Amino acid sequence: MKILIAGGTGFVGSRLVSVLENNGHDIFVLSRNPKKYSDLNTSKVKIIDWNEDNPNELHDIRIVIKLSGENVGTLWTKTVKEKILDSRVNTTYQLKEFLLRNSIRPLKILNASAIGYYGFLNEGKEVNELSKAGSGFLAEVCQANEQACRSFESFQGVKIYQLRIGFILKKSFIQMIKPLLLLCFPVPGINNAFFPWIHLDDVVGFIKYIVDEKAEEGNYNLISPQFCTHYKFYQTIKSPKNPNNKWVFFIPKFIQNIVGDMKELVLYGPKTIPSNTLLSGYQFKFEDLRETIEDLMKK
Ligand SMILES: NC(=O)c1ccc[n+]([C@@H]2O[C@H](COP(=O)([O-])OP(=O)(O)OC[C@H]3O[C@@H](n4cnc5c(N)ncnc54)[C@H](OP(=O)(O)O)[C@@H]3O)[C@@H](O)[C@H]2O)c1
Repeated sequence: MKILIAGGTGFVGSRLVSVLENNGHDIFVLSRNPKKYSDLNTSKVKIIDWNEDNPNELHDIRIVIKLSGENVGTLWTKTVKEKILDSRVNTTYQLKEFLLRNSIRPLKILNASAIGYYGFLNEGKEVNELSKAGSGFLAEVCQANEQACRSFESFQGVKIYQLRIGFILKKSFIQMIKPLLLLCFPVPGINNAFFPWIHLDDVVGFIKYIVDEKAEEGNYNLISPQFCTHYKFYQTIKSPKNPNNKWVFFIPKFIQNIVGDMKELVLYGPKTIPSNTLLSGYQFKFEDLRETIEDLMKK
């Protein structure tokens, strides 16, 4: 099947492209800079420009996956915040124009959103895909992103999937944070807040599950179903074999104030349940944090 992936050159996209390619699909990756990624072209993968105008080749694309988005890890100046929003909302409208220009009539649209949808406060509060959006900058971005994506409803019969993705663990993150944890001391903090992590294999695995026709249209939380407080999360990274050690890293209030709004990225609180994802029958490959860390570190 022909699949279009906007923003398929990034962290999630590059793994996804290789998994879908290995499963026999023909992939078109929309990039702002196709020349930079030209070495990714293969007989089954083609990197194309947003200005591409080629209905003959593209019209029978049936699945469209939107992963585009400015990285949220850059210091949130006013300009960066505008880029974060714009790259998720305006890109959606540009994508729609691209589909119309190339006579593409998608059957499925998959849109990368984030669990930031539920708001970063609400420590300990249970949320699932039916819960209302929360407050804060990321919650506003996620709502605007999902709202823009609903404009695809004008394609007759299209099924829309909103993927509310948690924090995808990376080896480089663990390597960066681990030495810091050795220097840390306990401070009052966020004992009751939950860390929303997921393994990349499960993000890609669930997207493939949708491509393979196994999940109904809807909103899906992509987060490990084993709840993990921030306390347990940092303890497990610090000493995977002894996560009950009491010396743990919490972020003191003065550091929270220095990073300003960006504290939303590290202070997520709700107990987020991937209810729909589990109901769909998807089996997570990585539920256990310790096994996930061990897996990432051996790669
Ligand atoms: N990684 C996570 O932990 C995580 C968590 C929750 C949600 N998500 C969401 O999942 C999606 C994929 O995540 P990712 O980590 O793979 O993202 P990524 O690697 O940071 O970026 C994906 C792609 O987006 C395009 N892009 C970057 N800045 C852009 C801009 N200003 N305007 C338009 N396109 C831009 C780039 O493609 P080109 O340069 O080729 O155009 C890039 O390769 C993102 O929307 C992200 O918000 C990720």
